[in-house]
Amino acid sequence: MPSPEAAGPRPDYGLDAPGVVRNLIVAAVAGLAVWATVALGLWSGTVRVGPVAIQLTYTGLAVGVTCGAMGIYMVWWSRVGKLRERERLLDRITWKGNERVLDVGCGRGLMLLGAARRAVSGECVGVDIWQSVDLSGNRPEATLENARREGVAERVRLETADMRKLPFPDGHFDVIVSKTAVHNLYKREERAQALSEIARVLAPGGTLVLDDIRHVGEYERELRARGLTDVTRVGGPGWPFALVTLGSLNPGTVLARRAR
Ligand SMILES: C[S@@+](CC[C@H](N)C(=O)[O-])C[C@H]1O[C@@H](n2cnc3c(N)ncnc32)[C@H](O)[C@@H]1O
Repeated sequence: MPSPEAAGPRPDYGLDAPGVVRNLIVAAVAGLAVWATVALGLWSGTVRVGPVAIQLTYTGLAVGVTCGAMGIYMVWWSRVGKLRERERLLDRITWKGNERVLDVGCGRGLMLLGAARRAVSGECVGVDIWQSVDLSGNRPEATLENARREGVAERVRLETADMRKLPFPDGHFDVIVSKTAVHNLYKREERAQALSEIARVLAPGGTLVLDDIRHVGEYERELRARGLTDVTRVGGPGWPFALVTLGSLNPGTVLARRAR
């Protein structure tokens, strides 16, 4: 596997869920401000709601520390953790080097470009609708710039397309990857539609690596129902990320294959 371009700027895969990170930082600052102003003797820390007196000092401290830790974890995850995670996920695939690869919801190319470094004589296609609420600076130009920085631009192609209607023929891809993307479809029927499309474009003998922060049990069932085999679930991005993404109690990775 070639290494990224030694000289020149490093690729930047963006900050996941930038709005969540911002809200956590605002909550942390507010909570710590309550605690600090009481500690400095500026006020009592008690607010009255009708007849009820509520002491906010330690609540402020708890909110500040918890939200601050979660915000820091999310920034660390986007800058360091998810790069390590991508290599672990891509290691799950037995690469020949000439694969046709699809990354569903590729964003700024984290999985797509990692795959392109392994599929050295292959073709790697990323599809996305480029939502900036899901990923900071989410634009095809940013992905192409990262492709140049990774030294894989000549074998990477991007398509602006919705994962519920993939613009590819049946059985087109030897490898399909998707990370932290399908949960952005909020209705179960829409996720089922996306999984149906993913299963449709996976070639006989092909491999799917589908990682997400939610709904992973649902994905397993849907993929089995669509005829994929060897559907197995392995670990996930870890509980802190699951916790901060609110209600995300079903994170993990599904590995699956289409029989020849
Ligand atoms: C959290 S980002 C993850 C990006 C990338 N996979 C990564 O791990 O860095 C989720 C991505 O899914 C994309 N996305 C959301 N809904 C989509 C849809 N219906 N079709 C295609 N992409 C979608 C977003 O635009 C965004 O790029």
